[in-house]
Amino acid sequence: MENVPLQLLSPGDIRQLADALGVAPTKKLGQNFVHDAGTLRRIVASAEITPGDHVIEVGPGLGSLTLALLEAGARVSAIELDGALAAALPRTVKDRAPEAASRLRVVNADACAVTGLRDLEAPTANGEVASWEPPTKLVANLPYNVSVPVVLSILASFPTVTSALVMVQKEVGERMAARPGSRVYGAPSVKLAWWGEARVVGGVARTVFWPQPHVDSVLVAFARTPARAWEGLREDVWELVDAAFSQRRKTLRRALAPVCTNAQRVEAICAAAGIDPRWRGEALGVEDFIALARARRGGVSADAPGKVNVLLEVGPARSDGYHPLLTVFEAVSLRERVSIIPDCDAWGVTTCFVDAEGNPAPAPHRWHEVADEDHLALRAARLVADECQAAPGHVEVTKMIPVAGGMAGGSADAAAALVAANKAFDARLDETRLYELARSLGADVPFCLAGGVCVGRERGDVLTPLEVTATHHWVLATSRQGLSTPAVFARFDEKKSASPRDLERELGCDWEEALAEEDPAKLAGLVANDLEEAACELAPHLRAVLDEARRAGALAAMVSGSGPTVAALCAHETQARLVRDRLAAHPHVERALLADGPAAGARVVTR
Ligand code: C5P
Repeated sequence: MENVPLQLLSPGDIRQLADALGVAPTKKLGQNFVHDAGTLRRIVASAEITPGDHVIEVGPGLGSLTLALLEAGARVSAIELDGALAAALPRTVKDRAPEAASRLRVVNADACAVTGLRDLEAPTANGEVASWEPPTKLVANLPYNVSVPVVLSILASFPTVTSALVMVQKEVGERMAARPGSRVYGAPSVKLAWWGEARVVGGVARTVFWPQPHVDSVLVAFARTPARAWEGLREDVWELVDAAFSQRRKTLRRALAPVCTNAQRVEAICAAAGIDPRWRGEALGVEDFIALARARRGGVSADAPGKVNVLLEVGPARSDGYHPLLTVFEAVSLRERVSIIPDCDAWGVTTCFVDAEGNPAPAPHRWHEVADEDHLALRAARLVADECQAAPGHVEVTKMIPVAGGMAGGSADAAAALVAANKAFDARLDETRLYELARSLGADVPFCLAGGVCVGRERGDVLTPLEVTATHHWVLATSRQGLSTPAVFARFDEKKSASPRDLERELGCDWEEALAEEDPAKLAGLVANDLEEAACELAPHLRAVLDEARRAGALAAMVSGSGPTVAALCAHETQARLVRDRLAAHPHVERALLADGPAAGARVVTR
């Protein structure tokens, strides 16, 4: 389809057409017609219209933008509320651009009532009945009073519409594109952010309109982001957004009370969503409202600990690629939390990163939708659902354990998800079955279920619990870059460092004594990690971090599991704080965190 320049409507044409139709632009419909060809072509260029695009145009009026869209080769489904204008548009196009008439359909309707492809079906301007591919773009010159509802309605009704370019009143446009914290941020900003990202891409002079309006206009470009796994929560989110902005000066605690029973319940919901109930709606991004909606619906949360390996002896690789181990795991107080919301339309995962105090990152970086079907927590939840034919659920992971750090963060996600899903889906799996599922998910998952201190054998998944009453104080220093566990094992294999030692032996009584004592000095003398050398070769900066921990006074410092997190065992809490401060200041350390061990295994937490 080629691009033939058309004679667009001039100011004279517009008046003539309006006179002929007996149309006086009405204030009620907010009608202002554009008569400047340059502006119209600029809109079409900004919308990146290419030949063959199927565009929804809302409010074509006398057809000036319609002709510009047709000129660019688009097919246009024009939705016009005014019956006289809707009837005249095909004639205008047939007169001025007969070759384009087969690319125009006019629907005489309220755009908000056009909710599906069937509603767009209409004969073309030359009377043909054509079936078109679904629309992909929205382009419109919108009266200010309906701009946002129209855009929201089209986005909801036509998932294939991936971008929009609309001309709106300046204030409306700024509100559409506003971010949290901005003075003009409001309900429309949040609702549009649900669907994607809006930007103001330029101003439009008043002189291009007839009649000339008393307000300024802007062009807003919108790009849809991939579908949210949360589609089933949209109505809930809208309700919370409307309540939060109903009185801008009210805190969430007060503003949300009418839609959450009372202020006490708002506090509980905010706590579950990691949001301060003293904030106002204007501080919240769309992902915060989604978190609130999820929390309001309820769900079951469980948490599970990360681990350090106090002892890690590794034998030569087995035929399945795994290595036989003799290890002593200790669960530590950094915990991953997983919430499962049952009865959703589809499976999905969201993650949120928190610091060691449990404080989430500020909006809008708080929640991340994860498109990973293989996410370990998702797989764990699905395994449980399969056992009891439960409907899909949503999995929400709050991450505190360093990612790819050798502390079993991913395995803790899986363990917490198993426990949360067991309750959320009322699957009633017994402990034996949960351990079987855990083993099928990964070698460290059973230990994250068990917690405490355990001897691990075979892949690390055959466990014997050890009684430990003492508390151990750890400092965990993370690195900016993670290490892949398989890569560390592979380096270990290359070095042929597996000694032919007996991994099936019993742990000596020195271990029992060391673990029983309050003073961890004896334990410090026993810690050992066969993978440490391989990890240090792949990440040489670790040697400096280990040295620094020892110089700072730690009783022992070692790479945790496959690394790169360095675990420093300290005599007591005061020493741990000193070591933490020293490590935190080290150039190769990303974060230094305090943690206690041993910690409990995966368990349901009540919000
Ligand atoms: O079981 P999981 O997926 O957590 O293990 C990650 C990787 O760590 C394995 O694919 C394997 O390369 C390595 N691994 C191993 N021997 C073990 C445990 C893990 O080689 N005992």
